[in-house]
Amino acid sequence: VPCRSLENERTLVIVKPDGVSGNYTTSIRNIILQSGFTIQAQLTLHLAQHTVTTFYAEHSTKAFFPSLVKYMTSGPVLIMVLEKVNAIADWRTLIGPTDARKAKITHPHSIRAMCGEDLQRNCVHGSDSLHSAAREISFFFPEGTTLKHDEL
Ligand code: PPS
Repeated sequence: VPCRSLENERTLVIVKPDGVSGNYTTSIRNIILQSGFTIQAQLTLHLAQHTVTTFYAEHSTKAFFPSLVKYMTSGPVLIMVLEKVNAIADWRTLIGPTDARKAKITHPHSIRAMCGEDLQRNCVHGSDSLHSAAREISFFFPEGTTLKHDEL
């Protein structure tokens, strides 16, 4: 029997450049709140090349990496820390498969089906494990537990 933690978890979300420029942030925020997450922190940033390179370091040897870096620096992104029980897995379920083109077919109600296009322009990021959530949250919010909100 899988032992699902009853403790709150935090996960890191990035609404990627196409999600922000396509005005999906309000819809995404509404889905987040209706799904029982609290938004612990949020920050709108135009990421620098070195920031994206460091954040996605585990993918640095992949053929798509230069394209991913170019895309993620192409415009502002919205970064959020979400909290709820089972936040990491539940957020990944809400966003659907990585490839938004497939999401439109297999998970038509998912966030990536709504605002993504393909494997690169997939609208949103979500941490894939407790370990990566901890790393990704401290990457953008190094002050730790006192997470700050910027202006909306
Ligand atoms: S992998 O190879 O399984 O580790 O990749 P995956 O976890 O599916 O994806 C990691 C992130 O890289 C992006 N990605 C791509 N970008 C551009 N082109 C291609 N072909 C491509 N494949 C994967 C993908 O959007 C993932 O971004 P995040 O932010 O983690 O969703």
